[in-house]
Amino acid sequence: MNSIAIITKKKNKEELTKEEIAFMINGYVKGDIPDYQMSAFLMAIVCNDMTERETIDLTDIMIQSGERIDLSSIDGKVIDKHSTGGIGDKTTIVLAPLVASCGVKVAKMSGRGLGVTGGTIDKLESIAGFEVETTKDQFVEQVNKIGVSIISQTGNVAPADKKIYALRDVTGTTESIPLIASSIMSKKIASGADAIILDVKVGAGALMKNMEDARALAKRMIAIGAHYNKCVKCVLTNMEEPLGYAVGNGIEIMECIDTLKGNGPEDLKQLVLTLGSLMVSIAKDCSKEEAYQELEENLNNGKGYEKFEELIEAQHGDIHQIEVDPCVSIKSKKAGFITHIDAYQIGDIVKRLGAGRMHKDDIIDHGVGMTLAVKVGDFVLENEELVKVHFDSQDINIQEILDCFTIEQDVKEKSPLILEIIE
Ligand code: URA
Repeated sequence: MNSIAIITKKKNKEELTKEEIAFMINGYVKGDIPDYQMSAFLMAIVCNDMTERETIDLTDIMIQSGERIDLSSIDGKVIDKHSTGGIGDKTTIVLAPLVASCGVKVAKMSGRGLGVTGGTIDKLESIAGFEVETTKDQFVEQVNKIGVSIISQTGNVAPADKKIYALRDVTGTTESIPLIASSIMSKKIASGADAIILDVKVGAGALMKNMEDARALAKRMIAIGAHYNKCVKCVLTNMEEPLGYAVGNGIEIMECIDTLKGNGPEDLKQLVLTLGSLMVSIAKDCSKEEAYQELEENLNNGKGYEKFEELIEAQHGDIHQIEVDPCVSIKSKKAGFITHIDAYQIGDIVKRLGAGRMHKDDIIDHGVGMTLAVKVGDFVLENEELVKVHFDSQDINIQEILDCFTIEQDVKEKSPLILEIIE
């Protein structure tokens, strides 16, 4: 077998055998296949897709590249959640402690930024001292003790995904159903949870740009889950405008704190309660409505925030030291209704300010970002603030930022946040 022949086979739209896929993936993990050949292979998959059988085989090979975590020493059902990634998507940081405050165990391995979408681990690292790398035993011990842990994918869980994910981030090979499905499901299956709730983002600021692709991705992940006997539910959610107001790392943590104190943006709150009610209802075997009510109570009575403080303390973070740069305010040139906010472009600008990576080894700047002052449907006056831009030294292109906002004289109907639930 040789890698050029396999890349060429996929380039010619042919179906690969499990052995051929394993040759590429295992060879890359061992270092026998260089980045440039793996990039070409990934691009061939992006362009020519994979069948369900190839995707399940790819997932299986990625699972077998490392160890499977045994969570059986944790009491009760362990529920995991994952998002396909969006702009301003800080959901996990609010959701995990809130669900844990209802007595449900959340053992969460999260990722770093991918393409223009931010990553939970990059965000959490803007809290001084917060440790995202722990051993498997510490991870399990913390979940048993306080009910929640959020760590980065340990070196041994789907290491093939870890290495390929970092390469995809910088080679324009993010937007592919088999690559996303196998990446997410290999980690989720290997990290041992009993049930998995997936937030599949749809729209300009997401990897899936339309409902048809988002449904196909959801169905592919549910099929992979069924292959491993795991309960998988997918919530398709709107990613036309950023989630909440903050897009960056440190400023998103500040928004999570506001949300857990009951003062967060409506869209983020609604998403957390919807995903959370699925997680809690599975774990406690109760109705979604009962679960929703309990979560809402814990958001309002501060129990969710207390659990968040426990989580940060357990992982040695200092909640009073969060990196946020000074900001400048950008004002509207005209009055009117905000009819569109270009989430993709905002994600891209924030990434270029330093919040994401252009090369695999880039060190990111946790303090930069953009805090919106408006959401779609709001009315702005001329000279009223549209957005604050947090940065310390780079020049910013004000016109490029203004172009992210479409302002018109007539208000347009806003599309719903929760688009569909596929169970
Ligand atoms: N999240 C992942 O873990 N992998 C992807 O490919 C996309 C989102």
